[in-house]
Amino acid sequence: MSDPLFDVKNRVVVVTGGLGQLGRQYTHTLVERGARVAVVDLLMPADAVAAKLGDLAESPQVMFMPADITRRDSLESALAQIVARWETPFGLINNAALDSPPNAPAEETGPFENYPAESWDKVMEVNAKGTFLCCQVFGGAMAQAGRGSIINVSSIYGVVSPDQRIYEFRAPFFKPVAYSASKSALFNLTRYLATYWAAKNVRVNTLVLAGVFNNQDERFLAGYNTRMPMGRMADESDYNGAIVFLLSEASRYMTGSTVTIDGGWTAW
Ligand SMILES: NC(=O)c1ccc[n+]([C@@H]2O[C@H](COP(=O)([O-])OP(=O)(O)OC[C@H]3O[C@@H](n4cnc5c(N)ncnc54)[C@H](O)[C@@H]3O)[C@@H](O)[C@H]2O)c1
Repeated sequence: MSDPLFDVKNRVVVVTGGLGQLGRQYTHTLVERGARVAVVDLLMPADAVAAKLGDLAESPQVMFMPADITRRDSLESALAQIVARWETPFGLINNAALDSPPNAPAEETGPFENYPAESWDKVMEVNAKGTFLCCQVFGGAMAQAGRGSIINVSSIYGVVSPDQRIYEFRAPFFKPVAYSASKSALFNLTRYLATYWAAKNVRVNTLVLAGVFNNQDERFLAGYNTRMPMGRMADESDYNGAIVFLLSEASRYMTGSTVTIDGGWTAW
């Protein structure tokens, strides 16, 4: 039996970066609950998309919309196709982002003093500007329709500084600055839009996440898990409840606010 408080049935939700580790989880959990999901991600070969989506690839509740979130024209074309097939989205999960992967070039993970300005621009371009553009295009349409919920996905590293001590085993390695700065920018984008669109019934909130287990190096895990009050990294399904909460009536009086699901990381 579905619970009306947490009902997302038929809601059209845009998940940016929907082919990534967490985007796929959100898509699964929403589809299971009867929502329709527009997976927005970079253009890639059809077999790669199918492999990432797995059984979701055939679902009539899922459409894959190739788009680059840093390009407004690309997002406008995605919106037009979503509206033509379904309707104006109710939900937007601003989930697409760049981070520096463990195999990033040495200058990106070296001392702050030498962090390349081009890397700063690249990360800001996707994580901050891309989120802003998605809010303009999808959020603008939601405001016109007079309803909706936007989730801006931030990180513990947008709230507190990375604890560089847990990366010491890889020295010389520093968790780079741009990701943190870009994820902090989202907090006030959220507040700005929450007040700007409150009368239009579009709610905007930030979701703060901690690191997700993805077969990381044992030495990293040892340091990370010791620093983490709950003693483990997140499972990739740990955030699904927050997504359903924020896209359903259960959170109807919540806007401009933050949901933090971080195993206690920011409590210490
Ligand atoms: N995984 C974690 O440990 C973790 C921790 C805290 C916060 N987060 C946040 O959660 C979100 C998802 O993380 P993830 O681990 O699933 O990431 P991921 O790297 O697995 O997926 C990101 C997706 O975004 C897409 N993308 C990148 N640039 C794009 C662009 N310009 N236009 C459209 N799509 C683009 C990529 O193709 C990819 O499919 C991110 O915002 C991330 O910062 C993740």
